[in-house]
Amino acid sequence: MSDTGNARTSSDWYRMLANGRIGGPLSRQLGLPRPAQLRRYRPGQSLTDGPVRLATAGTGKLADHVLTLPEVDQVVEPDARLGALVLDATGLDTLHELSVAQELLGSGIRRLRPCGRVLVLAGTPEQAGDITAAAARQALDGLIRSVAKELRDGATANLVQVSTEAAPADTDSTVRFLLSARSAYVDGQVVRVGAAGSAGGASPDTDAGAPPHAGRVVVVTGSARGIGAAIAEVFARDGATVVCLDVPAQGEALAATANRIGGLALQLDITTPDAADRLSEYVTGRLGGVDVIVHNAGITRDKLLVNMDDARWNSVLAVNLRAQLELNAALLAPETPLRTGGRIVSVASTSGIAGNRGQTNYAASKAGVIGMVRALAPRAAGQGITVNAVAPGFIETEMTAAMPFGTREAGRRINSLHQGGEPVDVAETVAWLAEPGSGGVTGQVVRVCGQSLLGA
Ligand SMILES: NC(=O)c1ccc[n+]([C@@H]2O[C@H](COP(=O)([O-])OP(=O)(O)OC[C@H]3O[C@@H](n4cnc5c(N)ncnc54)[C@H](O)[C@@H]3O)[C@@H](O)[C@H]2O)c1
Repeated sequence: MSDTGNARTSSDWYRMLANGRIGGPLSRQLGLPRPAQLRRYRPGQSLTDGPVRLATAGTGKLADHVLTLPEVDQVVEPDARLGALVLDATGLDTLHELSVAQELLGSGIRRLRPCGRVLVLAGTPEQAGDITAAAARQALDGLIRSVAKELRDGATANLVQVSTEAAPADTDSTVRFLLSARSAYVDGQVVRVGAAGSAGGASPDTDAGAPPHAGRVVVVTGSARGIGAAIAEVFARDGATVVCLDVPAQGEALAATANRIGGLALQLDITTPDAADRLSEYVTGRLGGVDVIVHNAGITRDKLLVNMDDARWNSVLAVNLRAQLELNAALLAPETPLRTGGRIVSVASTSGIAGNRGQTNYAASKAGVIGMVRALAPRAAGQGITVNAVAPGFIETEMTAAMPFGTREAGRRINSLHQGGEPVDVAETVAWLAEPGSGGVTGQVVRVCGQSLLGA
C-alpha cells in the first residue's frame, strides 16, 4: 500500500479539490494542473514507495556501490511499478551513451509510481577527458531538468554530479536523501558531491544504527515559528540537542518550540553588536561547542526600489546577511566553538536567484548569502567544515498565507509540482546537508521549490 500523505493539513484548497471525487475528473477535463498529495517522511517508512531499478549508461562507476544500498535491486520484474529509477551515468562520455541514457529513462519513467524518484549520477563536465565528454555530461543537466517538468503525480527528477576525487560512500547521504520522501519538494536540482575528506565522518558518541544527528549540538536562528521551528523539530527528531534562538519579543513562542522538542531557548537579537560573542559564550559554556549552525532568521520589508527608504534597506541587510557574516566569523575564529566536521547551513531564497519585484533589499540580501556560502566553503574546508545554502521557493507559512489571493495562487502553481512546499520540506533538506555523511557536499545552493519557474 502506498504511504503517501502529508504531515499536516494543508491550506491549499485547490489541491484538495483537484484530488476530490468531483473536482478530480473536472480538473482533468479542463486540462488544469493536478497537484499530487506528496509522500513525506514518517518514522519507519521505507526509503522509496516501491522497488528501485538501477540502470547503467556507459561503464557506470558507482553501480556496484549503489547496489549495496539495501533497497536497491538491479533485477526488478520488468513490469513492476517502480518507487525509483536510478541511472548510473558516471561513465557517460559520448553522445551514443547519452542516447542510451535517454532510452533507459524513457522506458523506466513509464513504470514510476506516484511520488516516484528519478535519480541520475554522472561525472562533472569540468573533469571530462575531452570536449565531447564534457558536452555529453552537461547535456544530462538539460535532460534531467526537462524530465522533472514532464513527470506527473508528485514524482521528481534530480542529477548528482560526482567528482573523480569522491569515494563511492561520499555519495550515500545524497543518494538516500534524493530517493527518500524527505526530498518531496526538491525537484530538477543538480547537486555536486566531492571528496568528504576531514569534513566526513560519523556522529560523535553514536553507533551505526543511531539517528543521523545523535550526540550533536545544533543552533537554529529564528526558530520560534515557521520554517525555523520545523528545522528545530527535524534535528530533534534526528537525535540532536537543539538550541532554539529568536528575538526576545518572540520569547513565548520560542519557549514553546524549545519545550516541544526538549531543546534549549536562547533569546537573542542576532543584529546586536555583541550577538556573536553571546552565542559563542552560550554554546561553549553550556554545551562545550556546536556542530551545526542554521542561519534561518530572516525578514522582509518590501517596497519598490524607487520608494525604498534606508530603514527598510538596512534592517533587511542587517538580519539576513550582515548577522550571518558576523556569526560565521566568530564561529570560525581561532579556538572556534564550531567543531571539526561542523556544518553551516544558510536559508537563502529563490528571490535571491531570480530577483523579485518589490524585493530589491531582500533579494540582494539572499543573493549575498549565496555569495557568502560559495566564498566561505573552500576557506572552511581546512577545518573540516562544510558551508551550504537552501533556497526555498513558495512555502506554506504565516508569511505566504498573508499574501493577496492572486499572488498566493500564482506562487503556489508556477512550479513542476503545482503546489507550495511545507516548512518540513526545507527542514529535511537542511538536515541532509548537515548530516555527518554529507561532508562531500559544500559550497552548494539547493533549491527547495518544486522546480519553480522563477529563476529556472
Ligand atoms: N516562507 C517562505 O515562503 C520563504 C521562502 C523563501 C525563503 N524563506 C526564508 O526562510 C526563513 C524563515 O522564513 P519564515 O517564513 O519561517 O519566516 P517567519 O517570519 O515566520 O520566521 C522568521 C523568524 O526569524 C526571527 N527573527 C527575525 N529577526 C531576527 C533577529 N534579528 N534575531 C533573531 N531572530 C530573528 C523572527 O522572530 C521569526 O521567528 C527566512 O530566512 C526567509 O527569508 C521563506
